[in-house]
Amino acid sequence: MTSDSTPSIPTGDAPRPQRRVRYSGKNPRRFSEKYKEHAADQYGADVAKVVASGKTPAGMHRPILVREILESLAPKPGSVMVDCTLGYGGHAREILGAIAPGGRLIGLDVDPIEQPKTLERLRSAGFGPDAFTAVRRNFAGLPQILAELGLDGVDGILADLGVSSMQLDDPARGFTFKEDGPLDLRLNPERSPSASEWLARVSRGDLETALRDHADEPHATVLADAIVAARQREPITRTARLAAVIRETLRTGKLASTRDLENICIRRVFQALRIAVNDEFGVLDGLLRNLPYCLKSGGRVAILSFHSGEDRRVKKAFQEGLRSGVYSEIAPELIRPDAEELRSNPRSSPAKLRWAVRA
Ligand SMILES: C[S@@+](CC[C@H](N)C(=O)[O-])C[C@H]1O[C@@H](n2cnc3c(N)ncnc32)[C@H](O)[C@@H]1O
Repeated sequence: MTSDSTPSIPTGDAPRPQRRVRYSGKNPRRFSEKYKEHAADQYGADVAKVVASGKTPAGMHRPILVREILESLAPKPGSVMVDCTLGYGGHAREILGAIAPGGRLIGLDVDPIEQPKTLERLRSAGFGPDAFTAVRRNFAGLPQILAELGLDGVDGILADLGVSSMQLDDPARGFTFKEDGPLDLRLNPERSPSASEWLARVSRGDLETALRDHADEPHATVLADAIVAARQREPITRTARLAAVIRETLRTGKLASTRDLENICIRRVFQALRIAVNDEFGVLDGLLRNLPYCLKSGGRVAILSFHSGEDRRVKKAFQEGLRSGVYSEIAPELIRPDAEELRSNPRSSPAKLRWAVRA
């Protein structure tokens, strides 16, 4: 297990621009040029302005439905909890505040680039090894992780699924098509395959199924045909090339009337590839199966999902658990961000929260 008990903790290995970088125009536009946002600790007022404008500063993630998650998990001083998806540590920080004194939070993440930075931030905020343990592992292995930590059940578990803004916005990670970058899309770039490797090997039929099942893509058939034809001409290794292939296909077939609609379709294709490459449905199904064995009686779980394929799985697992008596109570309805959160953080708009209580 890679945990923060390991003596050498990798820290801050991504570049952190400290001085003004060169860029054209009045304001930096590219991710790497936003040097103030990358150094939020030094440029607090500038970063606050970005947040107030409803944007997410480069290199940061704004936690979603924080109050609702805390209400769902009901953390108390002394509680032992797991954050399955540590990310920037926004939810973790709130949970750590609520379980002090005497509580313990285990924070999992598979991302070897962002996780060390988050650990460092939480340590700097005063959360020492007694209160917070970082583990760089997949949440699909939660029962084994808890066993290795000597825990036979916890009071609360949070999973905030998908990607963080730091991952999404960094063109070098390949999740965005706003700037060209390698077509990577891995939460853990140390594990194969990348999206370009996956795309080079996948059959036409499996690609079409992934587009439909992972992103409800209405043009799955025609896009799968176009992507397969394009890869035969030349391997698709860059985000800009994949976006161009999709855009051209939509235009040729008159399938999207505006650039915005084209962009929505490109986002769906990227989402489908991301889910496939990271086996996101497989690991979520594993977590949902394992949850009852990881919670103490009365323990609570909250899951924040971002698209229908995830929410369907969570809803079904919680309803089946209620019927079989594994859970004593589940969220009566979906919890969504309110108007104020949607205004202040538009990235919260697809968020869907559900909770359950272990019998
Ligand atoms: C939406 S972000 C979480 C943001 C976090 N709640 C916060 O407040 O900063 C999701 C994070 O979970 C991680 N992640 C996604 N799937 C995972 C998995 N199966 N196991 C462990 N970490 C995962 C991603 O690498 C990413 O950092």
